[in-house]
Amino acid sequence: MTSASTPKIMKGVQMKNFGGPEVLQYKTDLPVPVPRDGEVLVKNDFIGINYVDVYWRIGMMGFAPGGIIGREAEGTVLSAGPGSVNDLQVGDRVVYLAMGAYAEYTAVPASTVYVIPAEVEPGVAAAALMQGLTALNLTHKICQVKKGDWALVHAAAGGTGLWLCQLLKAQGAKTIGTAGTAEKIQLAKENGADFVINYHEEKDLVKRVEEITGGHGVSVIYDGVGKNQAQNNVDVVAKDGTIVTYGVASGIPPPISPAKLAAKNVRMVEPAETAVMRTVGTPLEFKKWCDKLFDAIIKDKMNVRIHDTYPLSKIVTVHQDLEGRKTTGKVLVKP
Ligand SMILES: NC(=O)c1ccc[n+]([C@@H]2O[C@H](COP(=O)([O-])OP(=O)(O)OC[C@H]3O[C@@H](n4cnc5c(N)ncnc54)[C@H](OP(=O)(O)O)[C@@H]3O)[C@@H](O)[C@H]2O)c1
Repeated sequence: MTSASTPKIMKGVQMKNFGGPEVLQYKTDLPVPVPRDGEVLVKNDFIGINYVDVYWRIGMMGFAPGGIIGREAEGTVLSAGPGSVNDLQVGDRVVYLAMGAYAEYTAVPASTVYVIPAEVEPGVAAAALMQGLTALNLTHKICQVKKGDWALVHAAAGGTGLWLCQLLKAQGAKTIGTAGTAEKIQLAKENGADFVINYHEEKDLVKRVEEITGGHGVSVIYDGVGKNQAQNNVDVVAKDGTIVTYGVASGIPPPISPAKLAAKNVRMVEPAETAVMRTVGTPLEFKKWCDKLFDAIIKDKMNVRIHDTYPLSKIVTVHQDLEGRKTTGKVLVKP
């Protein structure tokens, strides 16, 4: 399965070293990858930006510098390598999870490629895939709330945070969000959070959560912030509750003594990026979770908020804005 129009040279972003946003170098003469066994070559239309891209850039995830980072994009299948690529066809409009997305073209294992339903608007699939799958997985597999439970979502106006607020609302939870600005607070409320605390202004977050929950505490915490909220989490979690630490945007927290958790019979779960993605890692599982995701978008009308779409040549600004906490919802890039 080939297309005659595959060029040899492409635009893309090479990561020269580990470090700040400036290590991301926009190039116009990178070789177009050749799909290997079981891979398809996708021409990317929208690249999804995730906070985990920052971890890859600073060397937390073990990727060797010199290559192309980026974990997801949507685009069109241009050709295929040898071997089975499931039912994928040249010209299919697809979204995928794979390394190497910060480029015009990416060679992607067919097992993590999903054909986008026709009714989904351009950009929405790339905006939804990683963060939506993560939030679905966290709320439907890792730790499911019961109707009426109190839940706490940190960084509630971020890409994953807005998904969590909406999914928890649909499950009947009472959700408390945290966020860093008035605009973010408003956004989290519009997307299902019942209360939102500004963690820059609120002097005593623990007391505020106690007030809101009438002293009960929260039954589940979904935390993508890490270090800055680790102690608060232990203090606000209710007896028999669960702390889900799925990201470390503010840094890696110090270890928590099991004795502190045992005092309230608290369960702590730490699904790393690879752990969450492993649960959607087999082709069948990936398809099942993607079906759920696009049902949530099409039938349940989940809001997929796109903060902005930047040109790929502005990738340094993209990473500065993301780390500078200037974004809400999803950031997209166009090659
Ligand atoms: N385990 C997985 O498979 C998986 C998958 C996807 C995402 N994640 C994790 O989920 C978290 C959110 O990811 P995302 O892609 O949806 O990003 P995001 O939430 O859109 O952006 C990160 C947000 O974190 C908040 N934040 C708090 N402290 C921060 C700090 N010191 N520096 C920078 N930001 C800080 C900021 O919001 P405020 O200004 O409101 O504080 C910022 O906007 C990340 O930790 C990411 O690693 C994990």
